Amino acid sequence: MSLRGLLAGLEIPILQSPMLGASDGALALAVSEAGAMGALAAAGLAPDEIGPAVATLRAASDRPFSVNLLIVPRVAPEPAEVDAALARLAPWYAELGLEPPAAPNQFAPDFDAQFAAVLAAAPPVASFAFDVLAPARVKALQAAGTLVIGTATSVAEARAWAAAGADGICAQGAEAGGHRGTFLAEGEGSVVATLALVPAVLAAVDLPVIAAGGIMDGRGVAAALTLGAAAAQMGTAFLLSDEATVSAPWRAAIEGAGDDPTRLTRAFTGRYARGIENRFMREMRALEGEVPAYPVQNRLTQPMRAAALAAGDAQMMSLWAGQGVRQAEAGPAGELVRRWWAEAKIAAQVVAQRTGA
Ligand SMILES: Cc1cc2nc3c(=O)[nH]c(=O)nc-3n(C[C@H](O)[C@H](O)[C@H](O)COP(=O)(O)O)c2cc1C
Repeated sequence: MSLRGLLAGLEIPILQSPMLGASDGALALAVSEAGAMGALAAAGLAPDEIGPAVATLRAASDRPFSVNLLIVPRVAPEPAEVDAALARLAPWYAELGLEPPAAPNQFAPDFDAQFAAVLAAAPPVASFAFDVLAPARVKALQAAGTLVIGTATSVAEARAWAAAGADGICAQGAEAGGHRGTFLAEGEGSVVATLALVPAVLAAVDLPVIAAGGIMDGRGVAAALTLGAAAAQMGTAFLLSDEATVSAPWRAAIEGAGDDPTRLTRAFTGRYARGIENRFMREMRALEGEVPAYPVQNRLTQPMRAAALAAGDAQMMSLWAGQGVRQAEAGPAGELVRRWWAEAKIAAQVVAQRTGA
C-alpha cells in the first residue's frame, strides 16, 4: 500500500508524534485503536529492545502504527571539548550536590544497529528525523514492507528526502515541541511556521505531506487538511493524556505554563529544541552557542536532568513542549483523538458556511 493510501484509509487522519521521554507503546496503541495512528519513539531503545516493542504493538492491534528513530552519527569528540562542556556544567551539578560525570565512552545508541532492528521488525511505517537516510536504506525498508516518512523543517530538506525515495514528508513547523529535525542549513529558513511550511513543501515534492507543529485541537486538524496535508501530526496535545509518560514536575510545568512559555534552546542537548523556558535555559542562553553538538551535550546533561527529576526540580530538566502547550488537555488519548476529529468536522462546517460551499 502507498502512504497516501494508508493515510486516506485512517478513520481519523491524525498521527501521534513519536515522543522520546514522553510516550511509550501504550500511547501508540491507544491512538491507533481510536482510529488514528500511534507512534513508537524508538530512539532511546537499545537495538535488541526494538523488535520486542514492535511485536508487542503488532500483537495488541491490527491497526497501523509507526516506529521512529533519530539519525544520530557516531561521534568521538576531542577530550578537551568534553572537558570544557563538563566544566560549563559543573556549577549546575554542584547545585544538585553532584560531581560532573566522567567522560562517557558512548554518547548515543548505535544508529546502525537500531536501523537494522527496525528493518528486521518491519513495522507498517517508519519515520526518521535529524538527517536523511541513504537511498539504499529507504529501499530496504520499502522492500521489507515498511513505508518511510522523513522529517523536514525546510523545503530543501523535503527535497532531500524525496530524492532519497521517501514515501512521505513530515513537515515540522517552528511551533513544534521537542527537537528540531533540521539537518541542512540552520537559521531562519529552518524555523518556518507550519502554515507557511506545509504549502511550500507540497509545492516542492510530489509526496503526501504530514503537518506537524502547533496543532492542538480539531481546528488545527481541519486547518492542516485545508492546507493540503494528508494528515495532522500532534505531540504537545498528548502531553497531558493519561498514557503520556511525562514526569510529575514536567506535567506541573505544562499545567502552570504562562502566556508565552516556550523557547528554542540548544543548551540541554546541543541541538535546537523547544521547551518551557526554565532557569537552565535562561542562564545558559549566553553559552548555548558554545556547547558541543548533539549527541554530546545531550549525553553530558543526562545525569543532571535525572538528578533534577529525582529532586523534583523542574528548573534543570528539559521540559519539551510546543507553542500550543497552554491548550493541552488531560484525558484518555483515545477520547482526545475522537474529540479532536469531531471538532475538526465542526470547523470544516464553519468554513463551508462562510464560503457558501
Ligand atoms: C516531548 C516531545 C518529544 C519528542 N520526541 C521526538 C522523537 O523522539 N522523534 C521525533 O521525530 N520527533 C519528536 N518530537 C517532535 C514531534 O515529532 C513533532 O514534530 C511535534 O510534536 C509537533 O509539534 P507539536 O508538539 O506542537 O504538536 C517530540 C516532541 C515532543 C513535544
